[in-house]
Amino acid sequence: MSVRMLRLSSPFVLLGIVSSLTSTAAVPYFKTRDEVLSYASVNGITIPHHKRQVIEGPGGYQFDVLEHLAGIAPYFDAPGVQLDPDVPSGCSVAKATYLVRHSNIYANDYDYETYLSPFLEKLANFSDKSAFTRTSDLRFLANYTSPITNETAQLEKVTPSGIQAAQAFGGVIARMYPNLTSTTSGAFRVWAASASRTVESAQAFIQGAFSRNDSAQLVVVNEGENDSANSLTPHISCPNFHSSAGSEQQGAWQDQYTAPIIARFNAAVPGFNFTVDDVFGMQELCGYDTVIRNRTEFCNLFSVQEWLDFEYANDLMYFYSIGYGNPIGPQLGLPWLRASLDILKSDQNSTTFNQSLYVSFSHREEPPLVLTALGLFNNSDYYPDLDVNKTMPSDKINYARVWKTSEILPFLGHLGLERLECAANGTSSSYVRALVNSAPIPIPGCQDGPGSSCALDEFGQYMSQRATLYGDFIGACGINDTVTNRTDLLGIYTS
Ligand SMILES: *[C@@H]1O[C@H](CO)[C@@H](O)[C@H](O)[C@H]1NC(C)=O
Ligand SMILES: *[C@@H]1O[C@H](CO)[C@@H](O)[C@H](O)[C@H]1NC(C)=O
Ligand SMILES: *[C@@H]1O[C@H](CO)[C@@H](O)[C@H](O)[C@H]1NC(C)=O
Ligand SMILES: *[C@@H]1O[C@H](CO)[C@@H](O)[C@H](O)[C@H]1NC(C)=O
Ligand SMILES: *[C@@H]1O[C@H](CO)[C@@H](O)[C@H](O)[C@H]1NC(C)=O
Ligand SMILES: *[C@@H]1O[C@H](CO)[C@@H](O)[C@H](O)[C@H]1NC(C)=O
Ligand SMILES: *[C@@H]1O[C@H](CO)[C@@H](O)[C@H](O)[C@H]1NC(C)=O
Ligand SMILES: *[C@@H]1O[C@H](CO)[C@@H](O)[C@H](O)[C@H]1NC(C)=O
Ligand SMILES: *[C@@H]1O[C@H](CO)[C@@H](O)[C@H](O)[C@H]1NC(C)=O
Ligand SMILES: *[C@@H]1O[C@H](CO)[C@@H](O)[C@H](O)[C@H]1NC(C)=O
Ligand SMILES: *[C@@H]1O[C@H](CO)[C@@H](O)[C@H](O)[C@H]1NC(C)=O
Ligand SMILES: *[C@@H]1O[C@H](CO)[C@@H](O)[C@H](O)[C@H]1NC(C)=O
Repeated sequence: MSVRMLRLSSPFVLLGIVSSLTSTAAVPYFKTRDEVLSYASVNGITIPHHKRQVIEGPGGYQFDVLEHLAGIAPYFDAPGVQLDPDVPSGCSVAKATYLVRHSNIYANDYDYETYLSPFLEKLANFSDKSAFTRTSDLRFLANYTSPITNETAQLEKVTPSGIQAAQAFGGVIARMYPNLTSTTSGAFRVWAASASRTVESAQAFIQGAFSRNDSAQLVVVNEGENDSANSLTPHISCPNFHSSAGSEQQGAWQDQYTAPIIARFNAAVPGFNFTVDDVFGMQELCGYDTVIRNRTEFCNLFSVQEWLDFEYANDLMYFYSIGYGNPIGPQLGLPWLRASLDILKSDQNSTTFNQSLYVSFSHREEPPLVLTALGLFNNSDYYPDLDVNKTMPSDKINYARVWKTSEILPFLGHLGLERLECAANGTSSSYVRALVNSAPIPIPGCQDGPGSSCALDEFGQYMSQRATLYGDFIGACGINDTVTNRTDLLGIYTS
């Protein structure tokens, strides 16, 4: 079993798989099932348990479908580059900032309108239901009904398992940073973009972190179009941002990989006329129905190859919209990164930044955009002359890519930046470490510190270079000069 199963994923997938584990020294991460459960029971948290959806090979090979669903994956700890996520020995965490995607939802409007609803309606209308019972794989469709029972009440909203997962995440963060969740003056603050799914995720996080929901103050940040860089949703306030970028590349790949699946399903149930969008919607329903009803029939319908194909289709779309295929991605991510640098650099008793841990909830777009500003998960990082778009062809999978969105933006996917204080030779030095879904990911060109962290001063220099290249949010976004509060900076943490 891989080490990552022992950490943040614990609250979500740990049950039943760790009885043989031994607990090591007092580290701030959850280490055992008992520890998770006792923490949860003391704090009144129900731990959601999504059973792993494992496809097995005869030689012991295992593939968990739920770890390849891109933005529709219930949270799991990313494998990263296999660095130890524990705080490096001799170091402690003095400050940290986190940017977190909201928790499990019933479906977003786009997925619902494009894929789920057309398929589910076609299924509901299909009169020859008994045709499904002639094949073992598709048999369940004879009785299958939509997991969305009330569009108004459910679309874009957090599911009950999503509330539990966000609470558990709060518990994990509170355990990781016991010294950072108190504040000298006033209530501990948590930030959330104003959509209900981000606000509810943050409220559940607070409950899980503090066991009471009034121990922290939630700061709700407007998702307005006229806030330029001063919001947790720069993709909404940037006119030049287009969420549909990548749909062409994704579409080409979808057409190609779904062809044999369509042929297989149509051979089994000829009257249904399965389409590309039906198949993609069925793959999406593996993730959605897992987090809605804990039902996993669709997860068992496809081969490992077909899941890898689905994952790549998502990676293509996200690459061109919120990844390195979007030339203004870094400009959108930089404001949060700059604000984080100010927090990490501030001294211990700063009056500007009077808490040491800053956690903010936003949408799937934001953590990846910040990663492009930071320069992580860049397929052409070590090949500066290689056109990064060529690393994501739409007619075959680049298996060597580091841009894997399942490991970047699952529900509750997050980027954390820590300031480490490390003692050596009687003095203490400061370093910065990036954690993506709990896995440490070294900063390119700055990895000489403990645990491959980056010296704080060098990180500051690196950030200056990035700001020179990508600091022009207003220009890159083409923001109209009639917008009164134009700014390249994010100021929500200081006001
Ligand atoms: C989901 O179903 C499995 C059995 O398939 C069960 O073990 C698990 O507890 C359920 N999880 C939730 C969150 O209901
Ligand atoms: C399902 O049937 C309804 C009512 O006959 C019809 O309006 C709708 O277009 C059908 N939907 C699909 C996807 O076939
Ligand atoms: C569909 O539901 C009915 C009634 O609950 C049940 O008798 C039947 O076995 C189910 N069929 C399948 C294929 O699950
Ligand atoms: C669907 O949800 C909305 C909003 O919560 C509610 O007003 C409405 O009554 C619900 N509709 C049904 C059919 O339950
Ligand atoms: C918290 O602070 C105490 C007292 O300074 C220290 O002994 C302890 O190691 C710190 N805990 C963590 C997780 O850094
Ligand atoms: C806080 O918890 C109380 C008691 O459980 C509940 O009545 C209240 O609605 C909660 N408030 C928020 C903002 O979640
Ligand atoms: C499938 O296509 C055939 C021929 O065009 C049509 O008669 C039938 O209604 C279609 N079935 C569905 C479920 O759309
Ligand atoms: C990658 O493709 C996007 C979308 O076609 C384009 O805007 C961008 O300039 C390309 N990047 C490079 C480095 O060519
Ligand atoms: C911060 O303030 C506390 C209490 O006022 C003081 O004991 C401590 O030395 C100060 N720390 C720094 C780094 O200035
Ligand atoms: C500590 O001192 C030793 C011996 O002078 C030196 O080799 C080492 O680089 C120093 N370590 C740090 C972190 O400064
Ligand atoms: C800026 O916004 C104003 C008011 O909405 C509009 O009249 C004007 O055409 C816009 N200018 C540009 C360059 O888009
Ligand atoms: C500009 O910022 C001020 C102060 O934060 C605020 O009161 C005002 O509503 C903002 N104006 C617009 C157009 O967003």
